Amino acid sequence: MAGPPLMSWQRRGGPAMTKVLVAYGSRRGSTREIAEWVARVLVEEGMDADVRDAAEVREVGDYDAVVLGGAIYFGRWHRHTRALVRRCARQLAERPVWLFSSGPLQTIGDRDAPPPDAAERARRRLGAMENVVFGGCLRADARGFPAATMARTAAGDFRDPERVRAWARDIAYDLKASI
Ligand SMILES: Cc1cc2nc3c(=O)[nH]c(=O)nc-3n(C[C@H](O)[C@H](O)[C@H](O)COP(=O)(O)O)c2cc1C
Repeated sequence: MAGPPLMSWQRRGGPAMTKVLVAYGSRRGSTREIAEWVARVLVEEGMDADVRDAAEVREVGDYDAVVLGGAIYFGRWHRHTRALVRRCARQLAERPVWLFSSGPLQTIGDRDAPPPDAAERARRRLGAMENVVFGGCLRADARGFPAATMARTAAGDFRDPERVRAWARDIAYDLKASI
């Protein structure tokens, strides 16, 4: 594991807590923020949660469960997220895993955006509990071609924090029920 996690909550003393890794692949930071929202809810629900860039994660053996997310670029799940699935497939398959993607630059509901192919393959390979798609975010001042071109017509924040938090509460509920 390379260095400390981006965010980490641990209680000292008391009974051992369920420990969850929330790993993300993000180019411009909005998927990382979704990972942070998820982790905060898990902590509110009494768990330990680490938030890490998927590129830094070498193994997940220390965790009871993993939430793994990635931004969608050109229809593909972020490469750091895909690489983590490849690297840690065996350990991931041995513990509960929840998957998410973040991408569509429009308001989306629970069902109307299909996950990228790699996320769907990961769901099957890992036996993941869920595979959801959240709306994405692109700032109007996004740099680089083609992001800047896209931002001229599609900029906006289409993430729905309440939907993300509700999803995270369901994860906490499932984890509590299974331990
Ligand atoms: C060049 C480019 C290509 C994108 N392609 C897709 C896509 O194919 N499907 C999609 O749903 N969103 C797409 N998006 C939207 C991003 O997934 C969205 O901005 C996301 O929130 C980015 O996450 P990040 O800030 O963590 O990098 C694209 C955005 C850019 C800038």
